[in-house]
Order: sequence, then C-alpha cells, then structure tokens
Amino acid sequence: MGIFDRISESVKKNVNTQPDSSDMSFRNSEEKGSGKIISVINQKGGVGKTSLCFNLAHALAQKNNKVLLIDFDPQFNLSTVVLNDLPNEDEQVFQLLINSVKQLKTLHSPTMLSEAIKSINPFIDIISGGQMLSGFELTVGGINSVRQTILKKFFEHHQLKGMYDYILIDGPPTLGLLVVNILCASDGVIIPFIPDAFCQTGIRNLETVINDIDEMGLGCTPEILGLIPNLFDKRRKFARNELENIKKELNNFTFFPEIENKVDLFKAMGEKRSVFSFKSKEYNDIKNKFSHIADYLLEKYKYEKEKPSLHS
Ligand SMILES: Nc1ncnc2c1ncn2[C@@H]1O[C@H](COP(=O)(O)OP(=O)(O)O)[C@@H](O)[C@H]1O
Ligand SMILES: [Mg+2]
Repeated sequence: MGIFDRISESVKKNVNTQPDSSDMSFRNSEEKGSGKIISVINQKGGVGKTSLCFNLAHALAQKNNKVLLIDFDPQFNLSTVVLNDLPNEDEQVFQLLINSVKQLKTLHSPTMLSEAIKSINPFIDIISGGQMLSGFELTVGGINSVRQTILKKFFEHHQLKGMYDYILIDGPPTLGLLVVNILCASDGVIIPFIPDAFCQTGIRNLETVINDIDEMGLGCTPEILGLIPNLFDKRRKFARNELENIKKELNNFTFFPEIENKVDLFKAMGEKRSVFSFKSKEYNDIKNKFSHIADYLLEKYKYEKEKPSLHS
C-alpha cells in the first residue's frame, strides 16, 4: 500500500456522516490585502505555462512588484528552474495544504509556511511543488469539508494577498481537483496554448470547468484574463490562417499578442535564467512580450484598486 492509499484509508476510517464542525482551522479567517492571484492554466503540457510564470514573475519584479510563485505541478519544473535543490517534502506546497485541513493534519508532520517560502531575490519568492501533489486528489478524497477551496482557504488563512502584489500559480497538465483548487483560489486566469487544430477542445473543456465552479456556488469564479497563442510560427501562412480560425471560433475570449517560437526563450529556460537576465538585443522582442503581459496586469488591477467605492 502506497502513502496515498494509507492516507486515504485512514481518512475513510475517520469519515463522519456530519460535516466536521470542529474544523476551526480557517474559521474567522479574513481576506486582507490587495494582491492578486493569477494562475497559468492549460491541461495540455508543453504549451508554455512554466516559462510564462517564471518570466512573468521577473517582468513584474522589474516593475517593483513583490511576487510569490507557487509551483502546483507534480512535475515541479518551475521549482527545478528556480531552485538549485528541491526542498524536502515538509517544505512543499502539498504538505502545506494537507496540514491546512484539520482532518488530515494529524497524519502529517507539521509544516511551517515561513520555511516553505524560498526567496529567489528581493522581489520573488517561491513555494515549491513536488511529486506528492499527484496524490492530492486521493488524499483529500475522503474529507468532510469542501475539497475545492483548500488552496483558497490556505491563502486566506495566511493572508498571503497582503504579503505580495502578485501570486502566480503554475498549473499542472491535468484538469482534476488540483486545477479546480487553483481556479477557486484565483482572481484571474491566463491560458497559454499552441494554436493547432486541437487546441479549441481543450480550451472549451477548461471553460466548462470554470462554468461548473460558478454553478457550484462556491463564490470563487475566476476571470479568464486572456489566451496567449504560444510557439506561434508566423512565417507560415497555414499557421496564420489557423490562428485566425481559432480566434473566430473562440471569439468570447480576449487574446494577448502571440509569442513566437523563440530559441532565445528555450535557451534561457535551459540555463534556468529569465529572459530579463540577458543583455543582448535578440532578447528584446521576447522581453517585450512578457513585459506587455505584466503591464496589462498592473493596469487592470491598479484600476480596480483605485476605483472609488460607491459607499464612500
Ligand atoms: N515561445 C517559446 N519559444 C521557444 N520555446 C518555448 C516557448 N515557450 C515554451 N518553450 C519551451 O517549450 C518547452 C515547454 O514549455 P513549458 O513552459 O515547460 O510548458 P508547460 O509548463 O506548459 O508544460 C520548454 O522547453 C520551454 O523552454
Ligand atoms: Mg509546466
């Protein structure tokens, strides 16, 4: 029996017919701070989620924003890019979340948020992912409290929005409970995709999940900020036509400017460096793409922050 089976067995044994009213861990928690939680999601792998999270964090940092990266992918590529060594399991996002659920707390060693937050530079921190995340769904499967909002409540409990300007979540290449937790916790969602003949189905499926969350009445429907056509080959007429068709079919979405297949970005990720750490001119175009997305976020949420209150 693996660790997740053991956990899930012990959870099942503890299942009551009534919701766990003793779960006080998040009682009275209040959301403070004006930071925004932005997730980068697509259930397909290799579309550029991790590259976007990493470089967008640097673009926001360049503009004096304090950013927390959260690697919510069991394959933990973002953590590998950012950290020399993967932190031990007690300091990964999985353990933090499991420890935030009263019913599961006793089954795990205690974790300290302050130890799990690793600083990359004065503007960027990260909470690492790890393979344990692949057992999230099974581990929380038997709990009596709401399973979709564990991450949201975790943020609220620790008032992380008050500590950061932006929290960027790198999503996994799946569409299960991990992604539902990310969506429920997010203010905005960005969807990078490769503009090929198959991408629409995946994007529509993701849209359905968001609509389902809305219908569940959990009070946490995120806004889809936009789609980013990535790894676009603008020299090919076929690719340009394909993208036009996609934009027509998905005309209820906003599209960010497309990002081409840039060997510079590929190289930078391979060297575990952000594109902003390169001085040479070839990087200017790709830097501008990420800066543009950062500017969009700053503009959008600055406006919200400054909007006068109707009650004042
Ligand atoms: N615009 C791009 N140009 C060139 N390579 C890219 C681009 N976007 C992503 N890549 C590369 O493609 C691979 C997959 O990207 P990644 O960000 O890991 O995708 P995901 O997180 O969606 O799986 C990585 O090797 C990355 O460096
Ligand atoms: Mg990734």
